[in-house]
Amino acid sequence: MSSVYDLGPAGGPRSQAARPTELRSWIARIESLRELQHVSGAHWDREIGAISEINYRRKPSAALLFDDIVGYPRGYRVLTGSLSNARRMAVTLGLDPGLDTIGLVQALRGKPLEWEAAAPRFEPQVLDGGQILENVVAGRDVDLSRFPAPLWHEHDGGRYIGTGVAVVTSDPDTGRINVGAYRMMIQEDGRSATINAEAGKQGRAQYDRWFAKHGKAPVLASFGHDPLLLMVAGTEVPNTISEYAYAGAMVGEKLSVVRGEVTGLPMPASAEIVVEGWIRPDRVLREGPFGEWTGYYSGSRRPVPTIDIERLYFRNDPIILGAPPGKPPNDYSYMRALLKSAMIQDELSKVGVRDVRGVWAHETGGGRLLVVVSIAQRFCGHSRQAGYIAAQCQAAAYMNRFVIVVDEDVDPMNLDEVMWAVCTRCEPAEDIDIMRKSWGSKVDPLLDNPAVPYNTRALIDACRPFEKLDTFPRVAQASPALVRETVAKWKDLFADPRFPLPESVLPSTAVSESSGGSRPAGSAPTTPVSGAEPKAPDFTDEDITGPGVSPMDRKD
Ligand SMILES: Cc1cc2nc3c(=O)[nH]c(=O)nc-3n(C[C@H](O)[C@H](O)[C@H](O)COP(=O)(O)O)c2cc1C
Repeated sequence: MSSVYDLGPAGGPRSQAARPTELRSWIARIESLRELQHVSGAHWDREIGAISEINYRRKPSAALLFDDIVGYPRGYRVLTGSLSNARRMAVTLGLDPGLDTIGLVQALRGKPLEWEAAAPRFEPQVLDGGQILENVVAGRDVDLSRFPAPLWHEHDGGRYIGTGVAVVTSDPDTGRINVGAYRMMIQEDGRSATINAEAGKQGRAQYDRWFAKHGKAPVLASFGHDPLLLMVAGTEVPNTISEYAYAGAMVGEKLSVVRGEVTGLPMPASAEIVVEGWIRPDRVLREGPFGEWTGYYSGSRRPVPTIDIERLYFRNDPIILGAPPGKPPNDYSYMRALLKSAMIQDELSKVGVRDVRGVWAHETGGGRLLVVVSIAQRFCGHSRQAGYIAAQCQAAAYMNRFVIVVDEDVDPMNLDEVMWAVCTRCEPAEDIDIMRKSWGSKVDPLLDNPAVPYNTRALIDACRPFEKLDTFPRVAQASPALVRETVAKWKDLFADPRFPLPESVLPSTAVSESSGGSRPAGSAPTTPVSGAEPKAPDFTDEDITGPGVSPMDRKD
């Protein structure tokens, strides 16, 4: 079957092995790549959460498969860390597992627009049966406490079975299927679960329309599946497209689904655990607090819709796909940084923002709060255009707080370089614009009133003023050519392992998994090491800092 990766020149190298299409073959694949650690005997009460959290701080981190969980039968498992490094992201996307962060950024460049265009050809195929139907429980026999849902953080208000969850809803008029990740806490001793979708999320908009038309809304939630589905469910896919089709387009093959007995909503045919039922506007229970992606607990207990479960489906020896948030790095901050960056860059290009060299949605802001855009300035106002649109485009609009725009000689992934540009090219009185009443969230630790979740955001223009490009002082740093020459000539001096040269001085293809540390594809290269040129720059070192080239030469 052809893949969108075969469609265009931006396609990354395909993986040799077939892409795993369900969670168990995915686990087998990453185990064969030595990416998995087995953990036996951990307790669901804080221990699985704490082990997972410590794991995210390792560089690189592992995927962890918990079994023999205290109080549960062997085989009832929890997986965490599925998408927290480059290799596992590559396996999930069907790309070469040898790609590092920079390689992935390059492979993903231009892809979100291709996925969007290709999605209509990848609507899922509906099967009559699937492994998820191995066990079907109806009505009063439903009991979610039979699964080892962790109490992830010490001060969580309950056990969240839904973190890496895929909540499936539909549009009451068009039938369009939406799949979103919204946290779900077990309620009423396992007979129900709450769904916490924030205002503005598509799943919530759909069920609100069902409430208005029919007084109740059908819903289905999968708690274990191919991590590809977590990737799309947890990311702002354009709201005209079903995430099932988008996921199919991402990997060039249709997903397989089966219809729920009660609502007809589609669930992954090889899902691990699924609940199906109805939510109603007056059927709410209090949930939270929960340790969230901002790095803080999410305020007080609040009433949210509760699913009245009519069917519970699960495979034998089911696996919960856990993706607990928390202070970054958390389970999905790496995945979010990578995908958001690609999507924001594509949205900028789609609306015609010119010469964007790179975008990085930093993990430290959970992939939302801090976005850095690097541009080659072409006209007065270019940097503000890039900044305003980056701050408000669909991929970034929810809970952005800071957008920093930098010139092309600054690596957007490297916070030291970014802050150097802020310190030296941004005049605070002139170059910081504030956008008010933007799309905020209840999980914002600064929010005063959860009933009106606006936020405020700052655009920090850290580009050299366009009108001063000719006269702005030269950067006082050896030119790339001189660095290259000097390191080559004094290679023994600089090869001493006691004093390694940092990545920013000598970029290579190997970069830190989680914090970036080198520039994304297409952004300005840092000083290249002899014989290790950065991949695919579309301009030369001299275009940026080389002697004899006036910055005005680059203007229109
Ligand atoms: C693991 C994970 C958990 C998430 N939990 C929530 C949540 O509890 N509530 C929420 O509104 N968004 C949550 N999100 C973000 C949404 O999934 C994301 O905004 C997504 O785009 C929503 O889908 P939608 O755009 O179709 O509404 C989570 C994302 C991930 C990856």
